[in-house]
Amino acid sequence: MTQLVDLRSDTVTKPTAPMRAAMAAAEVGDDVYAEDPTVNALERKVAAMFGHEAALFAPTGSMANQIALQLIVPPAQELLCDANAHVVTYEIGAAAAIGGISSRTWPFAAGAIDVEQVASMIRPDGYHAVPTRAIAVEQTHNMAGGVVIGLETLRALREVADTAGIAMHCDGARIWHAHIADGVPPAEYGALFDTLSVCLSKGLGAPVGSLVVGSAEKIAKARWIRKRMGGGMRQAGILAAAGVYALDNHVERLAEDHVRARRLAEALAPFGVVDLDRVRTNLVILDLAKTALDAPTLAARAREQGVLVSALGPRTGRLITHLDIDDAAIDRAIDVLTSLL
Ligand SMILES: Cc1ncc(COP(=O)(O)O)c(C=O)c1O
Repeated sequence: MTQLVDLRSDTVTKPTAPMRAAMAAAEVGDDVYAEDPTVNALERKVAAMFGHEAALFAPTGSMANQIALQLIVPPAQELLCDANAHVVTYEIGAAAAIGGISSRTWPFAAGAIDVEQVASMIRPDGYHAVPTRAIAVEQTHNMAGGVVIGLETLRALREVADTAGIAMHCDGARIWHAHIADGVPPAEYGALFDTLSVCLSKGLGAPVGSLVVGSAEKIAKARWIRKRMGGGMRQAGILAAAGVYALDNHVERLAEDHVRARRLAEALAPFGVVDLDRVRTNLVILDLAKTALDAPTLAARAREQGVLVSALGPRTGRLITHLDIDDAAIDRAIDVLTSLL
């Protein structure tokens, strides 16, 4: 059987043979006692990359985000973020259900944040009002098609947050892609945020794992929140070893995923389904508003020919390139999708 070309997500990658070898060889201990040397090494490595004092390994990006939000927004106080932000829209209501966090969103603007609008939304402490405690941004922005939020915008938001005395969180599930696309060092991003969550199991190809990054004080509290959420793992060094391997070997190669996404997008653009300006990293959003096929039908027909596409909505599709997609896979996807469109 020919191999499936799975473009649904960059989470579908399987660990490579050398990554599995690194996992098998990992030194381990009980991480709830902070005695797993490989987890400790990964945490130190990621903290240093982002120029922060400490980091904490978590099983998923969602848990890392939710731990971070609980660190910076007390219950019944407010988080501001984009209407399509993963932290409030795609984490099954965790911020409200687990953190007791009230959230307000600015209109989804394909990643182009209107800083003045965000500033105008901040509510200070006061009788009857829910005070705003933090702003969250997503880098890169998933639903916006992997767009990179520019440093100028992030700096302007930081100024707004500083003026208001509130915190900033970065959902950096794909921050590595932003680093490769714009050449901004991770530490430069790190300097702009109180907390970041960064993910090893999206573009970097590890099977599991994300980290919360922040000050030593925050991360000490984060350990406690992680345990309360059921995320205290034991010999997690086997998983952390995959993360260390991914950081050492899979960051620079993200440029290849970006080139492949671009090639795919350029092949599909003549059908009027892609905004090429938004294709900067490894995501391609398909706007099927004007095509004969809707997204579920396109996904079903493509699947019959071995190409897997996400239907995000009735008329929205998504393609993501990753470690397990090579040039031949892109050729096949282009053949199948152009013939269907
Ligand atoms: C932007 C973003 N943040 C967070 C997550 C959550 O990651 P996880 O699936 O590991 O919980 C995802 C998942 O795809 C994501 O795309």
